[in-house]
Amino acid sequence: DAGGDADAGGDSGSGDLITVGFAQVGAESGWRAANTKSIQDTLTKENGFDLKFSDAQQKQENQIQAIRSYIAQGVDVIAFSPVVESGWDAVLEEAKAADIPVVLTDRAVDSEDESLYVSFLGSDFVVEGEKAGQWVVDEFGDEEINIVELQGTTGSAPANDRKAGFESAIEGHDNLKIIASQTGNFTRSEGKTVMEGFLQANPDIDLVYAHNDDMGLGAMEAIEAAGKVPGVDIKIVTVDAVKDGMQALADGKFNFIVECSPLLGPQLAEIVKQVVAGETPEKRIITEETTFTQEQAKEALPDRQY
Ligand code: AHR
Repeated sequence: DAGGDADAGGDSGSGDLITVGFAQVGAESGWRAANTKSIQDTLTKENGFDLKFSDAQQKQENQIQAIRSYIAQGVDVIAFSPVVESGWDAVLEEAKAADIPVVLTDRAVDSEDESLYVSFLGSDFVVEGEKAGQWVVDEFGDEEINIVELQGTTGSAPANDRKAGFESAIEGHDNLKIIASQTGNFTRSEGKTVMEGFLQANPDIDLVYAHNDDMGLGAMEAIEAAGKVPGVDIKIVTVDAVKDGMQALADGKFNFIVECSPLLGPQLAEIVKQVVAGETPEKRIITEETTFTQEQAKEALPDRQY
């Protein structure tokens, strides 16, 4: 039977293993690489899983195609990290009709029908944006600060939410002005290119708010190439806390990082096991995260896993 009985704990040709189809966003950032590793290292045969993994190269149509192929293969559970928030209802309805439970990991969908997925595991991106904004509020008091924002992938949950959270934290502080905001698609190279444009158009930038470390690292390179000192002439605040970002923070080139944990593999494995056992996992599981100053980064760096 290749039709896939979602409750049977693996009857898609892999013995007693639980078959999981995982449709990853891509390999756009250090965060994503660590997230992929966490999932692949956890959902192993030794741990009772048969993992089918695909990389959508940041394209929604590729993710939809991968999910359709998992449905056709009759996997026990589908998990995915949606590249953008909207446009998932049709394929999720197909999974539901095939009786294959779906677990959202890392990113949300904007579907109104919550029965289209069993659980959503990941960060609260609004809170992450708020933490970044609050640091800026606390750090600069009444000083006039010109901020440029490097947004994540347009339409993605972390870009939407980190923007909204940051804006709500600085609201009412008229001295803190976002003078330019553009997507850098969560990549280092686009972060650099967009920052070069910002620097050419605005002689007076005080702070970069980047929605992830990689774009912050790209901005750092652009700032250095423009003959300015990142972390001093232009402050940098980012989200993620991957090793390269933490190194820049410890070196004084970044000023503050809000953590976003990519280590979702173990919790995903638990959710999948629960679902296959016929149990109901929690609908929303929020990842626990902290923040880092330059001093805290120096302390944390030696033990950083990713
Ligand atoms: O969805 C999580 C975000 O995606 C990370 O913050 C970013 O680095 C990644 O590309």
